[in-house]
Amino acid sequence: MEQVDTVILGAGAAGLFCAGSILQQAGEGAGRVVVLDHARAPGEKIRISGGGRCNFTNLATALDRFVSGNPRFAASALAGFTPADFLAMVEASGIAWHEKTLGQLFCDDSARQIIDMLLHRMRGAELRLETAVQQVEPAGQGFLVGTARGPLAARRVVVSTGGKSIPKMGATGIGYEIAARFGLSLIEPRPGLVPLTFAQQDLDLCRPLAGLSVLAEVSHGSGRRRRLFRDGLLFTHRGLSGPAILQISSFWRPGEDITVDLAPDADIATGLREIRGQGGRLAVATALARWLPARLAEAVSAEVGLAGARLADQGNAALDRLAARINRWNLRPVGSEGWRTAEVTVGGVDTRALDSRTMQARSIPGLYFIGEVVDVTGWLGGYNFQWAWASGHAAARAIAAG
Ligand code: FDA
Repeated sequence: MEQVDTVILGAGAAGLFCAGSILQQAGEGAGRVVVLDHARAPGEKIRISGGGRCNFTNLATALDRFVSGNPRFAASALAGFTPADFLAMVEASGIAWHEKTLGQLFCDDSARQIIDMLLHRMRGAELRLETAVQQVEPAGQGFLVGTARGPLAARRVVVSTGGKSIPKMGATGIGYEIAARFGLSLIEPRPGLVPLTFAQQDLDLCRPLAGLSVLAEVSHGSGRRRRLFRDGLLFTHRGLSGPAILQISSFWRPGEDITVDLAPDADIATGLREIRGQGGRLAVATALARWLPARLAEAVSAEVGLAGARLADQGNAALDRLAARINRWNLRPVGSEGWRTAEVTVGGVDTRALDSRTMQARSIPGLYFIGEVVDVTGWLGGYNFQWAWASGHAAARAIAAG
């Protein structure tokens, strides 16, 4: 039986980074480190991320940018390895980068450079591709890892198999199965950062506008649970997408409403009254086009029965109805596009089962969970990679020390 010191399951962002950090910190003392993945190439999600330029971190990283059953769980790992730490590595590797909006950092050239940097960092570890992990069992003081190419015995196992999003890219639920096998509880995984789908009546509005994008505020929930994102909203053939919708999708649950403000910088009710007060023969849709793209202004006017209507002929009640439709559009999504297109998985291995400083399972010494498989999910904007790096680093530090 082949015997190794540490086996890392999954050569994605977290697994590659963890392997490199073990090697960097422990050097020769790291022993044999083997990284397994069933894919043909490592870091496939890194490769396609950020439109091929990898939004590799976010300078605004803070606890409130993450969704988790325990909002404080990520604090220690995030403090132990910061966006500045990752950026220092990017710069030391000579990778040119730029800040887009809101602290999001991207490669100037290609996400491939990040993968190459991670592979370079983990020299000394062994990467075995096209090796599907089937199960992990306890064995003496360590573990037996069953793979499609035969079993491996390991003193430590790091589970970095990611979530369930985009099965076509190699996502499986194996990490959750391993957690369950060892009696660790799960927060039910669900698709996050995913376009939402809508009922026919909403689709009737969205479809003809497909391709149109506006700045919007999308909100959900009330009181302390209220979330609001101000970002791009895209009309599509399937309903609504764009960053604002993706962000809110990580909080939305079936049966709940979302509210969309299509003109967040304008008080449409007041604005329409003012224009009406100036007299003239302006059509409602023409007046609305001061704040909305003309196609959208026409579609919304038509939806509330004011297609072709003159503004001067409308009473306050009609204007208020129209304004509410723009500033406070309540919709109830019927679902989401699901795992097929979700960028991340919300939920995962319950953080109560893990030590927040080391990512080690409290009840199973030697078993670690890092990255997306854990119930810590970032907002859109580079936070998920920062979590992959930080959690991988935390586990590596503990492994290198032990
Ligand atoms: P990741 O999914 O990266 O890796 C898991 C690995 O485990 C995979 O290589 C998989 O093949 C392997 N695996 C699974 N089951 C296995 C089995 N049974 N046997 C062997 N191997 C197995 N985030 C961000 O911060 N900035 C961004 O720009 C983007 N952009 C983006 C675009 C798109 C299209 C997607 C889908 C996602 C993003 N993300 C992102 C999210 C980000 O990609 C994600 O959060 C991280 O890749 C998670 O890293 P992990 O290493 O945890 O999982």
